[in-house]
Amino acid sequence: MKLLVVGAAGQLGSTFAATPGHDVVGLTRADVDVTDRDALLAAVERIQPDVLVNCTAYNNVDGAEDDASTALAVNSMAVRSMAAAAARTGATFVHYSTDFVFDGEASSPYLEGDRARPVSVYGCSKLLGEWFARDAPRWYVLRVESLFGGRHARSSVDKIAAALRDGRSTPVFRDRIVTPSYVGDVRDATLALLARDTPSGVFHCVNSGHGTWADVGRHIAGLLGADPALLMLTSVNDVRLKAKRPVYCALDNHKLAEAVGWPLPTWQDAVSRYVTTL
Ligand SMILES: NC(=O)c1ccc[n+]([C@@H]2O[C@H](COP(=O)([O-])OP(=O)(O)OC[C@H]3O[C@@H](n4cnc5c(N)ncnc54)[C@H](OP(=O)(O)O)[C@@H]3O)[C@@H](O)[C@H]2O)c1
Repeated sequence: MKLLVVGAAGQLGSTFAATPGHDVVGLTRADVDVTDRDALLAAVERIQPDVLVNCTAYNNVDGAEDDASTALAVNSMAVRSMAAAAARTGATFVHYSTDFVFDGEASSPYLEGDRARPVSVYGCSKLLGEWFARDAPRWYVLRVESLFGGRHARSSVDKIAAALRDGRSTPVFRDRIVTPSYVGDVRDATLALLARDTPSGVFHCVNSGHGTWADVGRHIAGLLGADPALLMLTSVNDVRLKAKRPVYCALDNHKLAEAVGWPLPTWQDAVSRYVTTL
């Protein structure tokens, strides 16, 4: 299976670009600007992949409030071009989306069919991207959240682990509920979905279970033998950010588990595997 990964320098993209056992072509922004439709179509037609994997994104959630046009260009219109490129070449299209397409007002993990109601420009731009992705003949929209792992070590898990390791206090939300997800597990689940010839659809591609960031912090403190008192519990309401954030972000991944034939590892297992490599 020949994979073309765009956004190959990012957190998830760099993980895909290093996939063993597959023919992977990784393109970074320096190779192709995905907002340049003609350049993107030409690159996909030249490479003729079996699968086009979109790991690009404009991920600056607060920045998108002031720069909606860049957010829409990368997260929406470029996805439309990719779906067109997949249609022209017969490639399967894999596109990643986000828990931020929901409003965060749920009290149990979101299902794929729950009504999307983004509360930020970033969330709107990602939802529009989801809709455009469906123009490809065979497509998967995989919603991920709170990613960690990959090349950059700049995720919330990395920041909490670094502070605890150094004996510094670090703020953690006691009320924001998430499913932190390991990029290696996201990649493996994606490849399993592709290998099974699963019908096109939206899937929640996250590790299993959910918890507050305080739960995640306590788990990391336990792994590192650090003092959990270094975790400063804060509320989402205490922090003023430009973009509104959903508070309840847990995603239910049972549809994906059924499709790939195995349950995804829990977030605790994933965080343990990652933190012990740091
Ligand atoms: N990280 C999370 O916690 C999280 C949560 C929910 C959903 N997601 C989704 O998961 C996917 C992967 O996220 P990630 O964390 O791996 O993202 P990332 O680390 O920010 O990587 C995104 C990549 O896209 C590239 N890019 C941006 N604009 C581009 C353009 N116009 N042309 C070409 N490349 C461009 C960036 O290039 P440069 O390096 O040159 O800037 C970067 O390498 C995205 O769809 C994201 O929305 C992520």
